Amino acid sequence: MRKKVSIIGAGNVGATTAMRLAETGQFDISLVDAIDGMPAGKALDLLQSGAITLSDARIRGGTAYDITADSDIVVFTAGLPRLPGMTRDDLLQKNAATIASTTRAVMQHSKNPILIVVSNPLDAMCHVALDTSGLPRDRVIGMAGILDSARFRTFIAMELGVSVRNVDAVVLGGHGDTMVPLPRLSTVAGVPITELMPPERVAALVDRARNGGTEIVGHLKAGGAYYAPAAAVTEMIRAIVNDERKILPCAALLNGEYGIDGVYVGVPVVLGSGGIEKVVEFKLNPDELAALQRSAESVRLLRDKVRTC
Ligand code: 2OP
Repeated sequence: MRKKVSIIGAGNVGATTAMRLAETGQFDISLVDAIDGMPAGKALDLLQSGAITLSDARIRGGTAYDITADSDIVVFTAGLPRLPGMTRDDLLQKNAATIASTTRAVMQHSKNPILIVVSNPLDAMCHVALDTSGLPRDRVIGMAGILDSARFRTFIAMELGVSVRNVDAVVLGGHGDTMVPLPRLSTVAGVPITELMPPERVAALVDRARNGGTEIVGHLKAGGAYYAPAAAVTEMIRAIVNDERKILPCAALLNGEYGIDGVYVGVPVVLGSGGIEKVVEFKLNPDELAALQRSAESVRLLRDKVRTC
């Protein structure tokens, strides 16, 4: 029995996620967008690709939310993307209204889905989805840390000329300028990167990872990254539907973990069939913990600016 995933927002991130999921043949997919015709056209195109990729996934597209009925997982990519010169925070009010309205519409058709939020500013949008849906915190998860750590891992592998398979990297905190890449916990074949390159190179890679999204917006001009975000969402969905209990960095609502309470921020979590099965508390040194708590405070300030819709 295929799991059902609905994707709200059929732009680059949503459509690329739908394509990745469709090619596994493991999911039925509904693609929703406000733009008439666009989700239906992309869904039909993806359906036809199944004849080549040998996938029998049922794929539907449209503007009405009835096609999202009884979803196991709903992915929110709807909202405005950044343009050059904008920060993710600049999207706050507009995207908060979009996430609130689309979450309300989704919850009219699915009783107990797991929500994966992608829209920016990510951590604040997780609060909007949580508050609007009324779901428990373990079923409302933000996609950010997998993307940010993938960028950090890529830059480390490039720097050292090694396979990215040998690289583990940890990036915690909000999905923005205050994110917290952790070189001390980032390794190549088990060796901390701080033992493999001089401090100034570590700092340069941390900076490039923190600005990874902005670098791509600067190239694309009319929007943000989508291949790596779609791959990150797919990794989360795989961990959930296969009950992998995989430790992955995601935005989670903390209730005291890391000394942070009532705020969404990127932390390592165990992802399984129930969504967030557990928040994992790495032992951080005082500077790392202070940086994470500062990042959480910046999320709290942004969250409190959201005008209740
Ligand atoms: C990024 O970092 C879209 O926020 C996403 O590229």
